[in-house]
Amino acid sequence: MKPFSKLNCLGLAFAGILATSCTEQPTAVADYQIVPMPLEMTTPQQNGFLLKSGETIYYTAGNEKMKKNAEFLASFIKEQTGIDLKVQEGDEESGIVLKLGLEANSPEAYRMTVDGKKVVIAAPSEAGVFYGIQTLRKSVSVHEGGGAIELPAVEINDSPRFSYRGMMLDVGRHMFTVDEIKTYIDMLALHNINRFHWHLSEDQGWRIEIKKYPKLTEIGSKRDETVIGRNSGEYDGKPYGGFYTQEQAKEIVAYAAERYITVIPEIDLPGHMQAALAAYPELGCTGGPYKVWTMWGVSDNVLCAGNDQTIQFIKDVLSEIIDIFPSKYIHVGGDECPKDKWKTCPKCQARIKALGIKSDSKHSKEEYLQSYVIGEAEKFLNEHGRNIIGWDEILEGGLAPNATVMSWRGEAGGIEAARQKHNVIMTPNTYLYFDYYQAKDTENEPLAIGGYLPMDRVYSYEPMPAELTPEEQKYITGVQANVWTEYMPTFAQVQYMTLPRMAALCETQWSTPDKKKDYAGFLKRTARLTKIYQLKGWNYATHIFDVNVKIEPNQETGKLDVNAYTIDDAPVYYTLDGTEPTTASLKYENGLSIDKTCVLRMAAIRPEGTSRITCDSISFCKSTAKPITMLQPINKAYEYNGAITLVDGMTGNRNYKTGRWIAFYGNDMEAVIDLKEATEISSMTLHTCVEKGDWIFDARGISVEVSDDNQTIKQVASETYPVMKETDPNQVYEHTLTFTPVKARYVKVKALSEKSIPAWHGGKGKTGYLFVDEIILN
Ligand code: ACM
Ligand code: ZN
Repeated sequence: MKPFSKLNCLGLAFAGILATSCTEQPTAVADYQIVPMPLEMTTPQQNGFLLKSGETIYYTAGNEKMKKNAEFLASFIKEQTGIDLKVQEGDEESGIVLKLGLEANSPEAYRMTVDGKKVVIAAPSEAGVFYGIQTLRKSVSVHEGGGAIELPAVEINDSPRFSYRGMMLDVGRHMFTVDEIKTYIDMLALHNINRFHWHLSEDQGWRIEIKKYPKLTEIGSKRDETVIGRNSGEYDGKPYGGFYTQEQAKEIVAYAAERYITVIPEIDLPGHMQAALAAYPELGCTGGPYKVWTMWGVSDNVLCAGNDQTIQFIKDVLSEIIDIFPSKYIHVGGDECPKDKWKTCPKCQARIKALGIKSDSKHSKEEYLQSYVIGEAEKFLNEHGRNIIGWDEILEGGLAPNATVMSWRGEAGGIEAARQKHNVIMTPNTYLYFDYYQAKDTENEPLAIGGYLPMDRVYSYEPMPAELTPEEQKYITGVQANVWTEYMPTFAQVQYMTLPRMAALCETQWSTPDKKKDYAGFLKRTARLTKIYQLKGWNYATHIFDVNVKIEPNQETGKLDVNAYTIDDAPVYYTLDGTEPTTASLKYENGLSIDKTCVLRMAAIRPEGTSRITCDSISFCKSTAKPITMLQPINKAYEYNGAITLVDGMTGNRNYKTGRWIAFYGNDMEAVIDLKEATEISSMTLHTCVEKGDWIFDARGISVEVSDDNQTIKQVASETYPVMKETDPNQVYEHTLTFTPVKARYVKVKALSEKSIPAWHGGKGKTGYLFVDEIILN
């Protein structure tokens, strides 16, 4: 044993003794495996740089932005390590040097070189230097005590994949303080994000001061109360409101600009305008009166497109918006604008006539009328040197000439817009809606809008659609995630929903696809990043530290195979009786087989504490883990692991997107289960998940047939069900058929889907979805 080990040294440093001699020795080593993963990295075999207090950061003389960059670096290092660095003008041969002049394809590129004498971050622009600083700061990570840190020798050449890297925040449904918005911007900066899309107007609140229309904030920023839960019909009775003054908005713009983030404001029009109509009812088709909306959803009270005053209102508002926000791009919304009121409004219909608008096979007259409104907004902004961004509905009725399309309803809108040679920002709700749940056990999550986008799903997103030609792909210029805040009353909850999914997003935005092949490596890098979240006091979600449990039927053994892992190979303990695992419980080593009904709970138990405990209720029956064949196709969008989902011993919960349910659309569920030998059965149970608002209905009938040879088949029981009523609840339905015991090897189970949605529903006459899980034979 060495007489004076590093451990000894650390202990003494902590005690505050011999601090100077100790700080000469590195107490930690930086790690360049960060998020987002840099493009190229080489590690020469030579001495690294010792980062310690007293070193100087040099920056380009006379350049205020570079000075600010140097100050940022010094403050990050001080905050994360306690090391004090000086900041000084100049370009030295030793120390930490920030400089311009690098030639690269992107202004945001940078090169970071580390050797025994110095650390150099060079870039074509100040923004590139800023990203180099983020890389250095993330490589250094968090260490207490102010001891020196070794930076191994390296050359990193890095550059972003997409020039537009965005995050949206909705402040209409709930708003956050100026300081919280600044924290959000700090979060974006840490993830190399360069666009803050600020959604400023909603049915439930208008949030930006417009001097020409003072009632927008006097009236439109306040709602009387807020609905409880998901439009429960009950209200909290508490007035809610607030707005940002133009001065505050400018302060945020400046704060973001220092961090190389452009604030893109959104005034959502012509829909999502009920709060504005509450202030200026004359801008609506009926003239009101209107109230700032107190529930969630899409209001059908929208701006009247036939009223000249409305068009003037749009121009006036945008005129003040462009004075506050220097962004080249202004978001004008365009999403979810119901056209019901326009259909019966004399002014709107007169406008349609005056413009000579006709409906055709592609679009209704009212859809063309929306394009007229968006086109007016675009004309005004183009005349003032700005361009518009709109949600993908702006495709309906034809795109305004210079519009950028934000594709949110999946990627179809983005693909279509790219084919029409329009720039596209991909922000699909199938991957990048951070208001969706991030975990399956929604009972243990804060209430969210629905959906299911766990970390691996977000990380799997590839924004470049394979069906586009390379020429068309050039129009995909950006990627963004969205945070809608109906169910996020506090900023802590915004952080919980965005972190660490923002890490997965940022790697998609920044890194090349080949860097994204190693998900396990990404999780390890993200775990290191969370140390900075923790230091900053950001309320991040910790699911990545939980035990990842995979339970799969093994049709050969007839058992369920359990595989579990943690990102850091932490010790995992489990129980099978539903009790909480502790270090006294069974220790998980290398796989596990289950062949009986049980409740499996697993936890990673680390020195710093116990992870959240997983819980899987497994119910074993005669069909569990038996071979199953589908005779009719599973709907591709909800296929997940396919037919075996129906015999995996687990039943899905109310969330139909967790992968525990599979769906059928336009055909029935028809499966044959091979019990492998003649087996006596006398009942069959199957479950359906109903969510009528999403066009998901209960089965119209179920049946069981049996066969000894899978050829001659005999029905043993069946039942039919009436069409669903509007009042039937959305829930998991259990259907059971019991019959005289019969012995057979093959069992065919059928569940009939709803082929014609009933008349009381918005999807009247169309096809409904059928979601089915566990088929239980006993
Ligand atoms: C949206 O999610 N309504 C753009
Ligand atoms: Zn109208």
